[in-house]
Parts: sequence; C-alpha cells; structure tokens
Amino acid sequence: MNKLAIMGAMQEEVQPLLAFFDDVKETVYANNKYYEVNYNGLDIVIAYSKIGKVFASLTASTMIQKFGCDTLLFSGVAGGINPKLEIGDLIIADKLCQHDLDITAFGHPHGYVPEGNVFIETNANLRNIAIEVANDKNLKVIVGTIATGDQFVHSSERKEFIETTFKADALEMEGASVAVICDALDIPFFILRAISDTADMEAGFDFEEFLKSSAQTSAEYLIEIVKKIK
Ligand code: ADE
Repeated sequence: MNKLAIMGAMQEEVQPLLAFFDDVKETVYANNKYYEVNYNGLDIVIAYSKIGKVFASLTASTMIQKFGCDTLLFSGVAGGINPKLEIGDLIIADKLCQHDLDITAFGHPHGYVPEGNVFIETNANLRNIAIEVANDKNLKVIVGTIATGDQFVHSSERKEFIETTFKADALEMEGASVAVICDALDIPFFILRAISDTADMEAGFDFEEFLKSSAQTSAEYLIEIVKKIK
C-alpha cells in the first residue's frame, strides 16, 4: 500500500478521524475538502463526500485518480436491519448492493443493470485484519450485507423490502457506490458502519440522537484497523 484513502459521507463521520491525526493539510477540489496527513510514514487522504451515491462516487474516484490512493476504507453510520444489530453496534460489509437500482420493468432482478453485478464483495484481507482487531479489542462486530440507496429509510415497509429482496443486514446511502468505483478501478476497499437507527418510524429521531456517538464508535475502530494495516 502506498497511499490510504479514508472516507465518510458526513462531516460528523470524518471529524473524529481528523481529531486523531496531526498536521492535516487541507486541499479543496471539486467542491470538496481533502485532508492529507502522514501517520508514522503512511500517507493518508481523508474526506467526507456529502450524502448519497453520486457524491460518494465522485469522492472515491477523486481519492484514487487525483490523489493516487490505492486502498480505501470507509467509516460511518447505518440503519440496522438485522435484529441482532442494536444502536451503536458495528457492521463490516462482506458485500454491498444498490437497493434503489430498478430496471425490473425489463425482467432484471432488483439492483442489477446489464454488465454490472447485484452484489460487490469487499476485500477479504482488509476484512480479516478488521476481525483480528475486533477480537484483540473484544469488540462485537457483525459481518454482513449492506444495501445502499439514495433514500433515508424510515419505514418498516421499505426496510422489509430491502431485507427480503437483498437479505441485507444494514442500509445506508454511499457504500455500494464506493464499491462500484473501487471494483472498477481494482482498488481494495473496506466498508465499516456503526448503527445509528433501525430504519423504521423512529429512524429520523434516532439518527439525530445517535449520529455523533455511532460515528465516533466507527471512527475509533477504524483507527485501530489503520494501526494494524500500517
Ligand atoms: N444511514 C443511517 N441511517 C440510515 C437510514 N435509516 N437510511 C439511510 N441511510 C442511513
């Protein structure tokens, strides 16, 4: 690894990372801030993309193609689907899909477009390192499927659709688009989330209440993973 990208979607997701590193150099590019640091000899670029698949794709591409990052880690929050996931719990994606990608009118499955795949897998090596860290630190982490879409899900109906269609364990608004970019550009990547809500009627309220604490939980774990992969 030459240069590591660490991204989140929201300022709140990236702030705990920026607080950890010293001597952060800020560059503005394409209406986004990119923060460059050197951590014990490892070059790292940190950024939050803004919410949603389009902004996340732009940021992931920029980190890889403009800044030269060759490994990407994502940290942030998600809505829980799997009942084992409570607010504050951690999930590592083993694969991701786009729950709102829909050309079923032409007989295709949900989440599929020609020449694409419904699911994209994350890098097994990075997952294994993360699991080792979790074991060392006694952290409870679930490995599972994350579904991504340009919707803040706050209804049982939509949540159940995503659960039954994709067997997803959690949902959010960026992961699968980052996966598409990294897969296309052959960049090993890893998506970590801590649960901020359970994507039902209470989701809006819970999200506002737990965004900061869950983002912090995810970022703290991610920093331990960075120490290990260095
Ligand atoms: N990220 C965190 N909670 C979410 C939700 N309920 N829907 C979409 N993205 C989320």
